[in-house]
Amino acid sequence: MKNIVVFASGSGSNFQSIINAVSNGKLTANIVGLITNNKSAFALERAQKHGIPTFIISPDQFNSESEYSKTVLSKLEEWNADLLILAGYLKKIPVEIIQSFDNRILNIHPSLLPKYGGKGFYGSKVHEAVIRNKDSQSGCTVHVVTAEYDEGPVIGQSTVQVTDSDTATSLAEKVLEREHILLPETIQKYLTTLKNY
Ligand code: GAR
Repeated sequence: MKNIVVFASGSGSNFQSIINAVSNGKLTANIVGLITNNKSAFALERAQKHGIPTFIISPDQFNSESEYSKTVLSKLEEWNADLLILAGYLKKIPVEIIQSFDNRILNIHPSLLPKYGGKGFYGSKVHEAVIRNKDSQSGCTVHVVTAEYDEGPVIGQSTVQVTDSDTATSLAEKVLEREHILLPETIQKYLTTLKNY
């Protein structure tokens, strides 16, 4: 079975959906660690509750990106990580880490990429833009992480309808509900494409 490490910066409800999918057998993988840049992230409590090791580390603690990358990579090696999942992780992943985990980092994004991707589009910012532009549809996307922010190959997408009465908050809730289904399902499918599954 493959070893998954989850990166999360906040509530970690997507992290929880991965924990749940492993517990109920829909996702056949081991969650070997949680990495967060935020010592107050609720994701940490979720990890502790399930006995998942945690590592709090932020690029801001380091003088150079390379030092930061090396520290993260040594933790990933210690945990024997096969696949990294960015589940509401709001820091940029350095190219050195992306190269070491080539095609083995997935990210969930709360829009139908390529719409509303890239710098400045995260969390509520995405939903506010969708409402402002009066789009009739939105959704979420899982993609492989490459050096181009939010631009790697799309491997899963789920669409929701936006109604006239939707606000950024109600849309965020609808999309998040879909994320919790899409993310574990897409990870499971992706794992079967990795060698020696
Ligand atoms: C999710 O909606 C996720 O798609 C988004 O942050 C939220 C985290 O929620 N990620 C991004 O915007 C990344 N660009 P969670 O902490 O409850 O999983």
